Amino acid sequence: MPGIEYEDLDEYGARDEYGALDEYRALDTAARDALCAPSIFNSQPWRWRHRDGALELWADWSRQLVVADPAGQSLLVSCGAALHHARTSLAAAGWMAIVERTGERDLLARIRLAGRGAPDPAAVALRDAITARRTDRRPFADEPVPREVLAVLVDAAAQEGVRLHRVRLDQMPMLAIAVSLAAADEMSNPAYRLELLRWTNRPEWSGDGVPVETAVTKVPRRVPVRQFALDPTAGVPVTPGGDQGAAYLILHGDGTAPGDWLRAGEALSAVLLTAVSRGLAVAPLTDVLEVAHPRELVTGLLDPPSIPYVLVRCGYPSDPTPLAPAPRRDAAEVIVPPEPSTIRNQVRVGPDEPSAPDDPGELGDSPGRGGASTHPTPSE
Ligand SMILES: Cc1cc2nc3c(=O)[nH]c(=O)nc-3n(C[C@H](O)[C@H](O)[C@H](O)COP(=O)(O)O)c2cc1C
Repeated sequence: MPGIEYEDLDEYGARDEYGALDEYRALDTAARDALCAPSIFNSQPWRWRHRDGALELWADWSRQLVVADPAGQSLLVSCGAALHHARTSLAAAGWMAIVERTGERDLLARIRLAGRGAPDPAAVALRDAITARRTDRRPFADEPVPREVLAVLVDAAAQEGVRLHRVRLDQMPMLAIAVSLAAADEMSNPAYRLELLRWTNRPEWSGDGVPVETAVTKVPRRVPVRQFALDPTAGVPVTPGGDQGAAYLILHGDGTAPGDWLRAGEALSAVLLTAVSRGLAVAPLTDVLEVAHPRELVTGLLDPPSIPYVLVRCGYPSDPTPLAPAPRRDAAEVIVPPEPSTIRNQVRVGPDEPSAPDDPGELGDSPGRGGASTHPTPSE
C-alpha cells in the first residue's frame, strides 16, 4: 500500500478535504495510537480509512477467529477498544471529536473533528497508559484493589454505557469452575488447538498474534488464565497461587447488536487504561465466554442476569519485571490513506476511470485484506 507523506497531501489538495493538515495529523495519530489497543489473540482486526476529512473504522473480518469467536463478538469488542484508544488520543490532544457509530458490522464508526481546545487532563493520563498497558498474565499481588479504585472503574465503564460487576468472594468458586470447564472444553477441540497454534506461531513480519514471551507457564491458579502455548512449560515462569488481591470484573449489558459489542470494547479500553493509570496491572479474559455452559454460569453471577461481554482481572503487580510487548502491525497495513476525489479526478485519473471501491479491504495488499463479508451477524 503506498504511503502518503504530509507534504504530498498538501500537494494533492488534501488541505481542501481536511481543512487543515493539523486535523489530518490528529486523526492519523489517533489511528496510530489505536494500534496499541488490546485484541483477541492480538489479531488487530480493524482498519482505519481517511475519507472526506473523517476517519472511518472498519472491521476486518478476514482476521476473525472462526473457532474461538464464531459470531465475531470478540472481534467487535477489539474494534471498540481501538475506537476508544483513538478517542483518547484525540481528547488528550485537545480535539473535540464527534463519533458516529453506524450500528453496522463492516463500517463501524466514523470520527470527525469539531475544533480544538485545551487538552483534557483525564484523557492525557489515559493516553499515557496506552503505551504502558500490557496484558499481564502473571499472578497479581495479595494487596487488594481499593474500593475507591473499583468505583472509578465502574464509573469508567458506565461512561461508555456498559455495566461493570465485581465478582464477589462467594462467587469466586463458580467463576473458577466456569473458566476451568471452558479451558478443558476448548483444549480438547482440535480445531481450537489449530487456531491457537496459528495465532501463537506467527511470522515476525506479521506484527500480530501472541508470542510465547507474553504467555505464562501453566500452574494451578485461583482462576486459570488462557493457555497460549500448547507446551505447559513454555512462557514466562510463574509460581502456583497468587492473585489473592486480584479483582475479577465482568463488563455486561443488555444488547447483542454489533453496536453493543463495539460499546463493550470501548468500555473495556476505558477500564483497562483507567486501571493502568492507577498503577494496576490488567488482563482481559474471554475463554470462559466462548463455550456455552461456562458462559451461562458467568451469566448467573449477574443480578439481574444480562449479557457478559468480557472479563477483566486486575490487581497490583507482584513481579516488577517489565513484560515483553506484544507485536503490532505496521501502520501502513492498517491505515488507508486519503484518496480524495481531488487526487483521483484532478491529478491522476481520467474521467472514465472506475471509482474507488467502498470497502477498504479491497484497497490494500496486506495479509489482512478482506473482501465481501459472509460472517454471521454477531448475536447471542
Ligand atoms: C476481546 C478480547 C479478548 C481477550 N481474551 C483474552 C483471554 O481470554 N486471555 C488472555 O490472556 N488475554 C486475552 N485478551 C488479551 C489479548 O490476548 C491481548 O490484548 C493481545 O495479545 C495483545 O497484547 P497486549 O494486550 O499486551 O497489547 C483479550 C483481548 C481482547 C480485546
